[in-house]
Amino acid sequence: MPQQVQAVIAPGKDEPVRVETIVIPDPGPGEAVVKIQACGVCHTDLHYKQGGINDEFPFLLGHEAAGVVETVGEGVTDVAPGDFVILNWRAVCGQCRACLRGRPWYCFDTHNAKQKMTLLDGTELSPALGIGAFAEKTLVASGQCTKVDPEVAPEVAGLLGCGVMAGIGAAINTGQVGRGDSVAVIGCGGVGDAAIAGARLAGAAKIIAVDIDDRKLETAKKMGATHTVNSRATDAVEEIRALTGGNGADVVIEAVGRPETYEQAFYARDLAGTVVLVGVPTPDMKLELPLLDVFGRGGSLKSSWYGDCLPSRDFPMLVDLHQQGRLDLAAFVTETIGIGDVEQAFARMHDGDVLRSVVVF
Ligand code: APR
Ligand code: ZN
Ligand code: ZN
Repeated sequence: MPQQVQAVIAPGKDEPVRVETIVIPDPGPGEAVVKIQACGVCHTDLHYKQGGINDEFPFLLGHEAAGVVETVGEGVTDVAPGDFVILNWRAVCGQCRACLRGRPWYCFDTHNAKQKMTLLDGTELSPALGIGAFAEKTLVASGQCTKVDPEVAPEVAGLLGCGVMAGIGAAINTGQVGRGDSVAVIGCGGVGDAAIAGARLAGAAKIIAVDIDDRKLETAKKMGATHTVNSRATDAVEEIRALTGGNGADVVIEAVGRPETYEQAFYARDLAGTVVLVGVPTPDMKLELPLLDVFGRGGSLKSSWYGDCLPSRDFPMLVDLHQQGRLDLAAFVTETIGIGDVEQAFARMHDGDVLRSVVVF
C-alpha cells in the first residue's frame, strides 16, 4: 500500500520550502523504503531550492541521511527490513568501464529508485541527489543503502552521506594523505573541517587551516588543525610555505570552489605535492595559470567527487572510528531541528553560523 508521510518540498525557484504530505509507493524491484531518523541540511539542498542545479521543481529536499529499512522490493538481497543504513547518492552499476576497471567512484551509470514519489495530487517529485530525505520515509535504490553499526547516533551517521564524507575522502582517498605529511586546507566550512579531520586520521604531522573568518579557524583547531592562517590578513601562500620550511605542503585541499583559492592551492603545494579540488565551482568560473608553472611544478592536480568514496568500504569504517572515539563526527552537528525548521536552517547556513543543522524525526 502506498504510504503518506510528511516531507520538505521546494515548490519553485527561490520560493520558501514547505512541509507537505507526499505519497511513497511500495518498493519495486531493487528498491527500498527507508524510515528516516536524521538528515543534515547541506548547501546542495539550498542550491536545489534556488534553482541552481536544474529546474525540475518541485524538489523533495534532503540527502544526508540515516535511518532504518522498512520494506524492500523484489530481488533485494543487500539490505533487509530492520537494517540501520546510511544513504548515498551514488549507487554504482558494477558494469561500466569505470566499475570494471576497479574505479567505481567514477561510475558512469549510478542509479536511484525508478518509481517516483508524488504530492497528493499526483505531481511527481524530484528527490535531491536521488534521495529526498527531509521526509519521514523515502524511496531509494537498495544500492543507496549502506549498513552500519546500529549503535551510532543517526544524526551523526547521516552526515557521512555527503559533506563530511566529501571532506574526509578528499584527504584520505583523493589526496592519499600519509603519516607525517604536511597538509593545508583552504576553506574551513563543513567540508574543509572534515578534510582536516581526515588528515588527522591519516597521521598528517602538520595541518594548516586557511579561512577568511576567524570563527571558522577556531573550529578548525578543534577538528585537528595545528596551525591557522587568516588569508584576509596575510598572504596564504607565503604563510603555508613559511610553515613548511619554505617548501609548500605535501597536500593542499581546496574546499571553497573559487578560482582564487584554487590558485592559492596550486602555489602553496610542495613541488611534488598534490592539489585536491573538493570545493564545487560554478559553470562561469575559469582558472588561468601560466602553463610553464604547471609544467615546472610537477606534482598532481586532482578533483575529488564525493570524496572518491566507496560507501560500502568507507561508511562502516568511519562509523567504527567515531564509535571508538577516534573521529569526532558529533563536532559537526551544531544543532538538531524539526522538519518545520529547514528554511531557518538555510538562513543560518548562509550566514556561516552553523557547520550542520540536522533534522531529526
Ligand atoms: N579564502 C579562504 N576561505 C574562504 C574564502 C577565501 N577566499 N571564501 C570563503 N571561504 C571560507 C568560508 O569562510 C567558509 O568557512 O570557505 C568556507 C566555505 O564553507 P561553507 O560555506 O560552509 O561550505 P562547505 O559546506 O564546507 O562546502 C565547501 O565544498 O562541496 C563543496 O559545494 C561545496 O563548494 C562548496 C565547498
Ligand atoms: Zn559503473
Ligand atoms: Zn550534500
